[in-house]
Amino acid sequence: MTNNVTEFPQRDDVDLERAQAYFDDIIARDSRIEPADWMPDAYRKTLTRQVSQHAHSEIIGMQPEANWITRAPSLKRKAILIAKVQDEAGHGLYLYSAAETLGTPRDVLNQQLLDGKAKYSSIFNYPARTWADMGAIGWLVDGAAIANQVPLCRCSYGPYGRAMVRICKEESFHQRQGWEILYTLSNGTPAQKEMAQDAVNRFYGPALQMFGPPDADSPNSQQSMAWNIKRFSNDELRQRFVDMIVPQVEALGLTLPDPDLKWNEERGHYDFGELDWEEFFGVIKGHGPCNAQRMARRREAHDNGAWVREAAAAYAEKQQAADAAVA
Ligand SMILES: [Fe+2]
Ligand SMILES: [Fe+2]
Repeated sequence: MTNNVTEFPQRDDVDLERAQAYFDDIIARDSRIEPADWMPDAYRKTLTRQVSQHAHSEIIGMQPEANWITRAPSLKRKAILIAKVQDEAGHGLYLYSAAETLGTPRDVLNQQLLDGKAKYSSIFNYPARTWADMGAIGWLVDGAAIANQVPLCRCSYGPYGRAMVRICKEESFHQRQGWEILYTLSNGTPAQKEMAQDAVNRFYGPALQMFGPPDADSPNSQQSMAWNIKRFSNDELRQRFVDMIVPQVEALGLTLPDPDLKWNEERGHYDFGELDWEEFFGVIKGHGPCNAQRMARRREAHDNGAWVREAAAAYAEKQQAADAAVA
């Protein structure tokens, strides 16, 4: 079903009642809102925050793995890791473009990150200590990202949903390469297997926290679901993820660090233990092991890129002057 994108442009004199009815109808039909459509301010604000935070996470998320590019154990592993980190940069770019269609320019969104006013995923504030962490990050972190993001392909906001389609395809490759790193280590020497297990032990809890706080502590989720931005609750997605990774960890010959993890016949799902939410909220507030380091690195990279932005602006000005001279 398509919607008429020209019927309700964002104008000050828009008939609010009709515009709201039009918006509600699109949501009720599970159709899509496009940038030129009227939308409630709260919908625009929620999406701007979500899509920009997602973009920031992709960009900051390059850091833990970029640190290992020079230390990859073979040329092949290095090439794969470079490709993966480049994919994450691409995800950031699509998502900043999607966020901009909601009306806030990219440099403003970027400044919010640099000023520490915008958040990014808490998982990227953990260090990548060993090569096995490249495996655990790919398998668990990109895996959790896929579980979160596949339903976002059907997000009611068109540009975000469409960006997610390609992103999810690339995330699948990321998860697969992470699993394969762990599989190789797990079938290697006892020390390599131990390294793989240690990485899984450290990333399991933080990866499960990527789905956000428990539903009872996530007051905005309800509204996001009513707007067809979010399709499943945090706890539903977390459960799906756990159900998915248990057989995978068995195939790896490793274990998950949760003594409460067991199959519940009645529910048809795995039960799992309570996560450390105090730690999660601490990391969100900036007290994780790498928050300061990640932000310092991002600011440094931004400053180092100043000449590129200046050159691009000078080139655009020159082009404009040339076009004006022709006209
Ligand atoms: Fe990504
Ligand atoms: Fe990824």
